[in-house]
Amino acid sequence: MQPLPITDRSHLLVLTGAGVSAESGIPTFRDAGGLWEGKDVREVATWDGFAADPLRVWRFYSERRRAMADVAPNAAHRALAALEARLGDRFLLATQNIDGLHQAAGSQRVVELHGNLMRSRCSACDRPPFEDRQAYRDGVAPLCGRCRAAGKDAVLRPDVVWFGELLPPGALARVETFGRAAGRELLFLAVGTSGLVEPAASLVDAVARIGGRTWLVNAEPPANAARFDHVALGAAGALLPTLLAA
Ligand SMILES: NC(=O)c1ccc[n+]([C@@H]2O[C@H](COP(=O)([O-])OP(=O)(O)OC[C@H]3O[C@@H](n4cnc5c(N)ncnc54)[C@H](O)[C@@H]3O)[C@@H](O)[C@H]2O)c1
Ligand SMILES: [Zn+2]
Repeated sequence: MQPLPITDRSHLLVLTGAGVSAESGIPTFRDAGGLWEGKDVREVATWDGFAADPLRVWRFYSERRRAMADVAPNAAHRALAALEARLGDRFLLATQNIDGLHQAAGSQRVVELHGNLMRSRCSACDRPPFEDRQAYRDGVAPLCGRCRAAGKDAVLRPDVVWFGELLPPGALARVETFGRAAGRELLFLAVGTSGLVEPAASLVDAVARIGGRTWLVNAEPPANAARFDHVALGAAGALLPTLLAA
């Protein structure tokens, strides 16, 4: 496939999903048949699952935090960061990933649609989310210090968006503002996402409505493949360096 036709007026909006981190060794969950690291996602990625058993959920996310120690960004993350260095404010990256690998590769204009594994927040009070790289000991659910000071016991939760929850405030608005300002100069590239999780799956339609052009890079045809102008099937780490070449 030809490189994206990026000119000095182009604005590039990128949407990434779990597939962009697959070559870094982080499993996607749909590839594993609805299981995410051997767990039913409803048990570890819904509010009900957390309410039923916070320790099980913390065990899962603590394992994920520990596993990040051996993980590094791959050629796809690096190609996106290099392109952002060229485009500056004409670049925006919205990611469904919670692994922080885009930032580790040097990306700065990142909208985390689903939060970040390395942050926690209180499940009860409205204190802002905070960085938390700790893998909690088995059998210990971390408590909120602020609530405790007020005489209440409240469990911390990972600062990630679970199924059925709202996206972080302002996240989609930032993407929409970027797209509207770009208008017909908008190029949209989706990478490594199964096209099933809304609202990200519908971004391609929103871009088409304002006259932008759309590309998809994915290992297999995703649910919404027919809605893209250009589709490249293959591994993100192999394809992006060529597609995004100067
Ligand atoms: N790395 C992470 O942070 C991570 C990992 C697993 C799941 N999740 C969460 O689960 C949800 C899953 O939705 P999703 O659409 O992002 O992921 P998904 O697991 O539903 O789909 C991943 C897609 O990537 C494709 N893929 C696999 N390897 C690839 C590669 N090397 N190059 C290109 N494409 C490849 C697959 O064919 C699949 O269509 C997200 O909301 C995310 O928050 C995050
Ligand atoms: Zn609290």
